[in-house]
Amino acid sequence: MRKTFFTLLTIVLALSCSENKQPQPFSVIPMPNDVTLSEGSFNVAGALVTYDENVDAQTAKAIDAFTETLKTVTGKPMTGKSAGTIRFGLNPNMGAEEYFLQVKTDGVDVEASAFGGFFYAIQTLKQMLPAEVYGNQKAKAAWLLPCVTILDAPRFDYRGIHLDACRHFWTVEETKRYIDIAAAYKINRLHWHLTEDQGWRIEIKKYPKLTEVGAWRNGTCIGKDFESNDGIRYGGFYTQDEMREIVAYAAEHNIIVIPEVDLPGHMVAALTAYPELGCTGGPYEVWTRWGVARDVLCVGKEETFTFLEDVLTEVMDIFPSEYIHIGGDECPKDRWRECPLCQARIKALGLKAHDNFTAEEEMQCYVTARIQKFLNDHGRKIIGWDEILEGTLAPGATVMSWRGTRGGERAAELGFDVVMTPNSYMYIDHYQSRELDKEPLCIGGYLPVEKVYSYEPYEGMTPGTEDHILGVQANLWTEYIGTEEFLEYMLLPRMCALSEVQWCNADRKDYTRFDTSLDHTFKMLDVMGYTYAKHVRGIIGLPGQEQPARTPEELAAYLEEQKSE
Ligand code: ACM
Ligand code: ZN
Repeated sequence: MRKTFFTLLTIVLALSCSENKQPQPFSVIPMPNDVTLSEGSFNVAGALVTYDENVDAQTAKAIDAFTETLKTVTGKPMTGKSAGTIRFGLNPNMGAEEYFLQVKTDGVDVEASAFGGFFYAIQTLKQMLPAEVYGNQKAKAAWLLPCVTILDAPRFDYRGIHLDACRHFWTVEETKRYIDIAAAYKINRLHWHLTEDQGWRIEIKKYPKLTEVGAWRNGTCIGKDFESNDGIRYGGFYTQDEMREIVAYAAEHNIIVIPEVDLPGHMVAALTAYPELGCTGGPYEVWTRWGVARDVLCVGKEETFTFLEDVLTEVMDIFPSEYIHIGGDECPKDRWRECPLCQARIKALGLKAHDNFTAEEEMQCYVTARIQKFLNDHGRKIIGWDEILEGTLAPGATVMSWRGTRGGERAAELGFDVVMTPNSYMYIDHYQSRELDKEPLCIGGYLPVEKVYSYEPYEGMTPGTEDHILGVQANLWTEYIGTEEFLEYMLLPRMCALSEVQWCNADRKDYTRFDTSLDHTFKMLDVMGYTYAKHVRGIIGLPGQEQPARTPEELAAYLEEQKSE
């Protein structure tokens, strides 16, 4: 009798469990471009994972890591004894980042032609599974993939995220964590901002003072009081080995690192180390405040070009990227106007003011063109902020449009390739709500997730110039962001919205579906221990300081009150 009872109980429990066993709702971000869901599911626990013997070593490593993860989180040996097979096959007819994925009740088929496609198929598979797949321990979960057929490829080739490592410094481990989460959302470029007025972060063997002196500042201003100083020496730099480690780590995540050496402005840290490279000769001090410095490189001196070429030679040796970012933004011309050497160069080159451009702006174009030629001669290409369009820009340069979209539109009209990073949609250092009393101090602006999501790069472009848009990037400047927790709060989930702008064809975007899918993203981020902003769920503030958002009526009253203050 007792035995019969237990047998019955076991059957009832087994039935009810199997009824509850449903794959989690399909909530992949960025939404794949072609998805057909069907009835049924496949249990990955204990499946056999196989791959074509001709896949490259990087692909084999990524698939092995995925298999190991499944083994850990499901707690089952991946031998195929109790389930079917997950097959990774080569299909040379597919694009480099394209993949095909079919889940049937008896197994999974993945096809791609190259590492990028296989890597992204794995990211999609992981997002289709319970969030615990992002953990590193055995978890009780329904390890089911929904039956589905996916054929997916990105809308844009260039899908970037930027990181300012100068205003605040991020360790190698922090940078790797940034790469991890970007890769999960199929981002494939890290624009690494490495030189600034407030700190030089790249070890350059030929110029050791760049990091001995230029990597350190004597304190940091407090809040927005630029005259203040917290008195805490601050800085850091990456050794060449560390940068190579980041480049290799990023490559394993299908991410190319594009280093930025911002020139000829934003150079006070370098000038502090080598004052002879400035127009006045200094003395200079690594900046402890934010803003745009008048002191820039003296381009009347040949030594400045020797310096830049030496630095870029070492940079090219560390970073194999096709693009080297040469900055070019916010370079005031005050010093050049007063410097006899700079004026002599203007005269010697015969540079004249024309249209809306000054002779000094044309001299910046001369600098850009000279550096461009140097990099081109070494097989590289330049990308620069949209100021490089002020004057005559040589063919072959790529423009990063940050002052709104107009720079990008104009560049495309002129035949230049463009990466769109308009501050109106893609500056994720801006506030995420208008309730500033609940937010950590930010630089300004207002850029909620919805606005990032709403960006359509082709809007406003002259018809026929759209093909010049290589892609889209969001920028994360870190003047006010000093901790990893705050960095992640600014990044997530706005980077997830960015990923749909970059990856999804315009007709695949749907904010309501995206917002629902964020529930799963938040679970993933919880498992991985990332901090993220919860504005879309009505909560504002860093962990420990979270507060409910105001109702629309309360917000209107609050904003009115702010206006009258
Ligand atoms: C920039 O935000 N200064 C490119
Ligand atoms: Zn000068």
